[in-house]
Amino acid sequence: MVEETSLSVDNLIYPVFLKDGKGIKEEITSMPTNYRWSLDLLLSELEECQKLGINTIDLFPAVDNSLKDSIASYSYADDNFYLHAIRTIKEHFPDLMIMSDVAMDPYSSDGHDGMVRNGAILNDETLPILNRMALAQAQAGVDIIGPSDMMDGRIGAIREHLDEHSYTNISIMSYSAKYASAFYGPFRDALNSAPKHGDKKTYQMNPANKKEAILEAELDFQEGADFLMVKPALCYLDVIHVLNENFTIPITAYNVSGECSMIYAAAEKGWINYEAAVYETLLSIRRAGASGILTYFAKDFAKMMQK
Ligand code: PBG
Repeated sequence: MVEETSLSVDNLIYPVFLKDGKGIKEEITSMPTNYRWSLDLLLSELEECQKLGINTIDLFPAVDNSLKDSIASYSYADDNFYLHAIRTIKEHFPDLMIMSDVAMDPYSSDGHDGMVRNGAILNDETLPILNRMALAQAQAGVDIIGPSDMMDGRIGAIREHLDEHSYTNISIMSYSAKYASAFYGPFRDALNSAPKHGDKKTYQMNPANKKEAILEAELDFQEGADFLMVKPALCYLDVIHVLNENFTIPITAYNVSGECSMIYAAAEKGWINYEAAVYETLLSIRRAGASGILTYFAKDFAKMMQK
């Protein structure tokens, strides 16, 4: 009766990694219990997830290096395995909400989220590429577009581009306050997407800043975002809180790979109790003000709830 915060599987979005091929279930070393799946095996995995009550997944492609180039052209190529997989997943599970990341890094030979020339990230030149990528994903059946690149003006550009092509019903969950964080390492291992040179500090946020997060969120809100995301979650609970106090649209948070890996590793050593730590972690993100949480713990949490 007096508990102030609730937490259920309905609040969770499950990130899932996809790889081209057949019969593949490759464990990601730095994130035990998470895999790179080929489509055939992923379908039965998703059936299990849906039975556990998971309603929303966030898909990421692991792209072969030979297909990467400086303009991320594979991201909207007709024979793209990832877009094909989205179509098939949607056919099999029409009620499952599919979110997909929009950023150049999984497809870029530079490993950056934007286009690179002479070592600099070109903000405005990146926008048309993001537009094409978002439209290709919408056409494949994605329900929620998740621009994770932090280029300025991309929410407005993508919204306009989708609307012009009659995809007015596709929502946008903007990675609004995405910090240049040390906690993305295991994710970059999973996709082999680490920057080939430099870092992401010219477009991702400085961990020292909170007011800037309000500015970034305000711009995304004005440009038409449907959700505002804070990423990572745990070092930035204060940012989740301040955005939730200041905006009327839902705030979400990404409990990122490195945050999960710390718990996996400590639990593996027997230093903490896995289930209790997962519960407390997710509850704290909800208490800070996130309505939705992207987390690699989604499936384990759903299993815990069934017990
Ligand atoms: C890429 C992207 C990243 C994550 C989600 N989308 C990594 C990055 O910005 O380098 C990180 C997710 C995680 O660490 O779990 N645009």
